[in-house]
Amino acid sequence: MTTTYDARAAARLGALGTKRNVRILAIETSCDETAAAIVQNGRTVLSSAVHTQIPLHVPYGGVVPEIASRSHVTKIGPVVGKALADAGMMLADADAVAVTNGPGLVGALLVGLSYAKGLAYAAGLPFLGVHHIASHIAANYLTHPELRPPFVCLVVSGGHSEIIAVEGYDRYRLIGSTRDDAAGEAFDKAARALGLPYPGGPNLEALAEGGDPNRYSFHSAFNEGAGFDFSFSGIKTALVNRLEQARRSGEAVDRADLAASFQRTIVEILTEKAVRAARSQPGETGGKLALAGGVSANKALRAALEQRARAQGIAFYCPEFRYCTDNAAMVGAAAYEKLCAGRVDALSLNAVPYLAIGTAPDGA
Ligand code: KG4
Ligand code: ZN
Repeated sequence: MTTTYDARAAARLGALGTKRNVRILAIETSCDETAAAIVQNGRTVLSSAVHTQIPLHVPYGGVVPEIASRSHVTKIGPVVGKALADAGMMLADADAVAVTNGPGLVGALLVGLSYAKGLAYAAGLPFLGVHHIASHIAANYLTHPELRPPFVCLVVSGGHSEIIAVEGYDRYRLIGSTRDDAAGEAFDKAARALGLPYPGGPNLEALAEGGDPNRYSFHSAFNEGAGFDFSFSGIKTALVNRLEQARRSGEAVDRADLAASFQRTIVEILTEKAVRAARSQPGETGGKLALAGGVSANKALRAALEQRARAQGIAFYCPEFRYCTDNAAMVGAAAYEKLCAGRVDALSLNAVPYLAIGTAPDGA
């Protein structure tokens, strides 16, 4: 008699209660990193393999979706193989398979999603779709195993800039968000204007290191308002205009000073809003502030946020550098509580490019 996938996965799920260590094979392909990891009990990384596509996209100045999808197809097998081998495991040793199913580039997402489904089906393992931003937030659990909701999290990535109250492992309340460009997007666009190669954020940070952060001023009335939303498009345009004005008049501008001043402005806005948002939250929630997303790798932002939070008596958390930008360990961390609650997904789960956080994995 043959047993269906659903019956096999349900049996594996049922057996989890008796296990001391639950190990999730996690996969991430939402943008330009092909990543796989094994995470134990949602907090311990047994292995984390990341293949970055950055060199493939550099000639185009940004991520080319078609190139990203094709590269994921060739790398997903070796990357998953490496994650299993580094953890000394076979596929059958995993207790579940988790994968990012949105938001992200749809073609890129589909590669990881299809591969994860194939593995889950072949080994009869429970299967879980994970929200990309929930994963970035969960990266904090890997570095700070003692951290538990509720807390406030500033999420700053290439596609997102949000202040979120994390009320439970799968309960999120939006406090503030960007009106236009995400913080990472602003860094990337400003970097391009300064003639820096992709990826802009880390290159702009490196240029800013030798610059004077107080040389130029990028005043922004919207961001000085009392709300928790921010806007970065005007600041980026101010920088572009400053460069253009200098080019026309033949005036020399110090690129390092411009980069440092731009970075200071973004960091000040994010820090001011995030700390004020945390202070506005009642009880335990406002006592803890976490940072997440690719821009959390920015040292000026980490330092400013930590200092301002501490000064207000707020505990500060941020992931170690390797878990700031896209990786799969954070996917395993985010999937763990969902798995323990038995909230697994069907193999019919689709990729959802604009998935809102806190909604069902299929976007419903
Ligand atoms: O989270 P992530 O790896 O991918 C998305 O989900 O978007 O974030 C990538 C973004 C890019 O915009 C990149 O320029 C930015 O994070 N980023 C940085 C730094 N490292 C990455 N921005 C500023 N400073 C950095 N050190
Ligand atoms: Zn990301």
